[in-house]
Amino acid sequence: MDKIPKIVVVGAGRIGWHLAKRLKGKGLPVAQVVSRTEQHAKELGESIQCKWTDKFEEIQQDADWVLLAVKDDAIIQVAENIAPFASESFVTHTSGGTAGEVLAKYFKRFGVFYPLQSFSMDHMPVWSKIPFCVDASSPTDLMFLKKIAKTIGNLVYQVNDVQRANLHVAAVFANNFSNHCFAIAEMILKEKDLPFDLLHPLMEETLTKALQESPAKMQTGPAIRGDAETLKRHIELLESHPAWMKIYKDLSESIQKTPAD
Ligand SMILES: NC(=O)c1ccc[n+]([C@@H]2O[C@H](COP(=O)([O-])OP(=O)(O)OC[C@H]3O[C@@H](n4cnc5c(N)ncnc54)[C@H](OP(=O)(O)O)[C@@H]3O)[C@@H](O)[C@H]2O)c1
Repeated sequence: MDKIPKIVVVGAGRIGWHLAKRLKGKGLPVAQVVSRTEQHAKELGESIQCKWTDKFEEIQQDADWVLLAVKDDAIIQVAENIAPFASESFVTHTSGGTAGEVLAKYFKRFGVFYPLQSFSMDHMPVWSKIPFCVDASSPTDLMFLKKIAKTIGNLVYQVNDVQRANLHVAAVFANNFSNHCFAIAEMILKEKDLPFDLLHPLMEETLTKALQESPAKMQTGPAIRGDAETLKRHIELLESHPAWMKIYKDLSESIQKTPAD
């Protein structure tokens, strides 16, 4: 990085916290935090010793890079709020499920800085293993994002809006839906006084194999074997949970229709 850019983080949620701290830790201090809720802006601003405000019109107008780390549904509204004061800045959002193009109406220079990982407040990210999916409206700004991503992480990919939208759907299957299935499994066991730990080795083996080979090839269980009687018994066992029964039926059908290669 030739010169240290003036960075403003908008949004003091999970992504705002983690990125602001990591940037600072890697010699890219955030100049200002702007967040809707005063307390949230203050807490993050004080923790990284920078200016903070809950007023969008007070955003630093000479910012080189404005990182919008707000809820997907608030991106356009926040872009609208800061546009009159950040028209010269390079503005990116961090959303996997939102096109970068939504910023084109408000800023000359825009892009996306999407870290493909699940971030929680109390869990330290492993930065070297996070794919940063970046895109920008100009080659110079794209290069800037790639350098930032390489400084705070290791894996950088240029991903356009259409690719990222599909990547995000895939990520929902790989993370949110599989985690929901884990949650259902835990509840089923709890109802019968069984510990969730019983399933841990199986869960670990599933992930290990899915990382080594194509998951479709690794599929086992009654659906892929076509064990109709077992499937019927499982569906009966789920009678008191119609929502889980529907998921069971839909997933079993999908497994049976998915070729192994
Ligand atoms: N968390 C993840 O795992 C993850 C991973 C990759 C990308 N992302 C993306 O990162 C972005 C932020 O996600 P997050 O997980 O950090 O969300 P979060 O923890 O729920 O924080 C949401 C942030 O949005 C702000 N906000 C909410 N509604 C607003 C509104 N109407 N006007 C202005 N600000 C509003 C909140 O401000 P206040 O708190 O000040 O009210 C808060 O700073 C999203 O685009 C998300 O898709 C998240």
